[in-house]
Amino acid sequence: MKHIAIFGSTGSIGVQAVDVIERHPERFRATVLTCGGNLELLRVQIMRLRPGMAVAVGGGQAELSALAREFPEVEILSGAEGLAEAAGNGAYDLMLNALSGAAGLLPTWKALTSGRGVAVANKEALVAGGALLMAEAARRGLPILPVDSEHSAIFQALQGSNGNAPRRVLLTASGGPFRGFSKEMLRGATLEQALRHPSWNMGDKITVDSATMMNKGLEIIEAGALFGLPSERIEVLAHPQCIVHSMVEFADASVIAQLGAADMRAPIAYALAYPERLEAVAPQLDFTALAGLTFERVDEGVFACLRIAREAMKAGGSAPIAMNAANEILVGLFLQRKIGFIDIQEKLECFMQSHVPAAVRGIDDVLGLDGEARRRASAMAGAV
Ligand SMILES: NC(=O)c1ccc[n+]([C@@H]2O[C@H](COP(=O)([O-])OP(=O)(O)OC[C@H]3O[C@@H](n4cnc5c(N)ncnc54)[C@H](OP(=O)(O)O)[C@@H]3O)[C@@H](O)[C@H]2O)c1
Repeated sequence: MKHIAIFGSTGSIGVQAVDVIERHPERFRATVLTCGGNLELLRVQIMRLRPGMAVAVGGGQAELSALAREFPEVEILSGAEGLAEAAGNGAYDLMLNALSGAAGLLPTWKALTSGRGVAVANKEALVAGGALLMAEAARRGLPILPVDSEHSAIFQALQGSNGNAPRRVLLTASGGPFRGFSKEMLRGATLEQALRHPSWNMGDKITVDSATMMNKGLEIIEAGALFGLPSERIEVLAHPQCIVHSMVEFADASVIAQLGAADMRAPIAYALAYPERLEAVAPQLDFTALAGLTFERVDEGVFACLRIAREAMKAGGSAPIAMNAANEILVGLFLQRKIGFIDIQEKLECFMQSHVPAAVRGIDDVLGLDGEARRRASAMAGAV
């Protein structure tokens, strides 16, 4: 029996992870659940899964007390301190990090430093702290298992590599709701349009990132951290059918691709059960029903976030931390209708032009730089 801590159990990935765990009670038990502000769903999940510990980062004191009264056998923690405490001292074997944003970095660090492996959906943790997290996992012999469908695909394709290094990886992208748009068309893009993703039903932050293509930019950096590749060996292809989840090309030009339905339960289950494969988690592909698979280049002149992310990856050090933090602030402002869609990339470009590189020696530096970049990005966006 594997004891799983689901960090962000009330989100899109978290809910699908709960589904995978409930379908396989003989293998998994959810022992820690965490939410941001959705205490109503957390309550339902506690009732169904009976974890030993639950954390509500948001929510009022009255709601927390009611939860504690209703489930006296469950240790209820609160706030960001509660989240860190659960990550470091909760009773679990594997953390599934399904938190959104850089809030997932410290819990991932605490999981590793307390001797537990992590299945990571939370790409922002790897963007901000990838080098540190990978080094700590390697030092302790712990797994960091990718959950992002593209990185799960690369990870799966590399199982057949016999130790041969990939010549390049091809990250596929749906292209988002604005695929084929010109820069002028992006100027008129609305929040409603940005939140209407053509293929995936995800949380708001990643849905907006998919529309700006920053999601793919973050994934380039994530792939670099997970697989030790430079940005030149990671290419992006828009693939609107979302059937090929990514591909790996070897020295002999052979390509291994991983295909499947657009259903995150498949990579979640693969990471939770690795190296085994579970039955009945996602629908089978019907190849005869596929009209065709198409692949296109993404115009980085229009979708500037992709280029900005590549530049941050090449610069390394504090640049990806700052870019990730500023992007989170700008996406938040867009979701609050305080800035327009195109402002995300334009303000991010200005922000990165004024970024002053700083040393990154450990986790405290990463957290400090993240906080500092948030303050600077908020001030800059408010001033314009
Ligand atoms: N959704 C997908 O299909 C998908 C695919 C690939 C990768 N990912 C990655 O997986 C991660 C999660 O994505 P998602 O779509 O599942 O996001 P989501 O639906 O917004 O869920 C995020 C989860 O984290 C919690 N949360 C948010 N901010 C928090 C904070 N500051 N402190 C503590 N908890 C917080 C939320 O709690 P409440 O809801 O209770 O507030 C929720 O449980 C992201 O990094 C995303 O890039 C997602």
